[in-house]
Amino acid sequence: MNQRTKLSNMQVRDARSILHPYTALHSLDDTGSLVISEGKGVYVYDSHGKAYIEGLSGLWCAGLGFGNEELIDAGKQQLDKLPYYHLFGSRTTEPAVELAEKLKEIAPVEMSHVFFTCSGSEANDTQIKLSWYYNNALGRPNKKKIIARNKAYHGVTVMTAALGGLPMLHGDFDVPLNRVLRTDCPHYYRFGEEDESEADFLARAVTSLEALIDKEGAENIAAMIAEPVMGAGGVLVPPEGYFPAIQEVLHRHDILLICDEVITGFGRTGNMWGSQTLDIKPDLISSAKQLTSAYAPLGAVMVPEFIMDALKAQSEKLGLFGHGYTYGGHPLGCAIGVKALEIYNRLNIVGKVREIAPSFELRLRKLNELPYVGETRYIGLMGAVELVKDKQTKATFEAKSAVGIKAAQFAIEEGLIVRAIGDSLALCPPMIISEAELNELFDRMERTLAKTADWISREKPD
Ligand SMILES: Cc1ncc(COP(=O)(O)O)c(C=O)c1O
Repeated sequence: MNQRTKLSNMQVRDARSILHPYTALHSLDDTGSLVISEGKGVYVYDSHGKAYIEGLSGLWCAGLGFGNEELIDAGKQQLDKLPYYHLFGSRTTEPAVELAEKLKEIAPVEMSHVFFTCSGSEANDTQIKLSWYYNNALGRPNKKKIIARNKAYHGVTVMTAALGGLPMLHGDFDVPLNRVLRTDCPHYYRFGEEDESEADFLARAVTSLEALIDKEGAENIAAMIAEPVMGAGGVLVPPEGYFPAIQEVLHRHDILLICDEVITGFGRTGNMWGSQTLDIKPDLISSAKQLTSAYAPLGAVMVPEFIMDALKAQSEKLGLFGHGYTYGGHPLGCAIGVKALEIYNRLNIVGKVREIAPSFELRLRKLNELPYVGETRYIGLMGAVELVKDKQTKATFEAKSAVGIKAAQFAIEEGLIVRAIGDSLALCPPMIISEAELNELFDRMERTLAKTADWISREKPD
């Protein structure tokens, strides 16, 4: 993008001072960061005032868009009243209690208690600790391994990175993989075999899960963790019937299902929870992101009664439940979370997503006709476009060609922010997006893909 000589003062200060997450650190001094200064509705503005449609709601999180006055006021009022307090050692706060009660009310299955964290990673990390603690409480010290899927993303703490099924999460970080069992990614387009029907592909995934459990022994496996729709893997929607089929296997082997709803919670898939859209009956649920529409960091773990009972028993044995984060359940996040849930309810956010999803799907599917588009995927108001070298054979570009990153840069030129996941471009716009804004987003996307196709035809990347 920009050459070093053109970097602004802020970009230089940034490159010299911030260790950026998920960034090509080696080239940042040359490219500079995109400095985002303001946001309103579905738009964010850079430091030069250029407007971008935020096609990924930040990081799949700002579901109510930017500059929502009600959320801002809820935060201000809470800071005025009680800017901080914690939940350790049987202290509590009103917003935390209110939010926990509201989450229990809207949970897709009956839940007993809510444990608050500051992020999705911490929520999933907590889930793993809970599943271990639970099995220790039940006197099953060997039942500890966790099944996770190829292409999964559950965060970046030491354990959640180990659960992730994307190579960048492990590469040279030495995350402990000894308690992780890996199973198939249910993405038919990429992993279906030649002449294999989607139904046969699904059957194969279920058989291979069963085989994995038989090989390891169910007595050694605590849980499986899964996103209803794999977001960071490239918006991968499983075949119909996938979750009921794998859940039957897990249930039969007394293996918990931890549902990672960090992206899919709060309306995104056209139901309040991805579990409802994908027909999942989770044992435990992780949520974060849209919980506060990203206006404050917050995550929540929902725990059913049978696990709560075991936690209480273990607490009695050990003296207390020794887990918690200083800022978990921060009153600022909880007050904003309560307000976000109130707004989702008032706006009928689920109805709104369902209303706009057909237009989203229509415009996204149309992109299939473009050169180098191998597959488009969607559910509710999240989707992706996968670029391929050859539409017939589905042959991919080599990773070093960084075609997805190039396309995301063309999107920036067009005033659209999308996320490149390999050579897939992910879309997850704020759920408040209007029909006109959605059309504008796809007009920009079409121009982006046209520029990308020109560039590919010209440069012929490997
Ligand atoms: C499904 C899923 N789980 C967990 C996480 C981690 O959340 P956080 O970045 O808040 O730690 C993410 C982040 O994108 C996610 O997509």
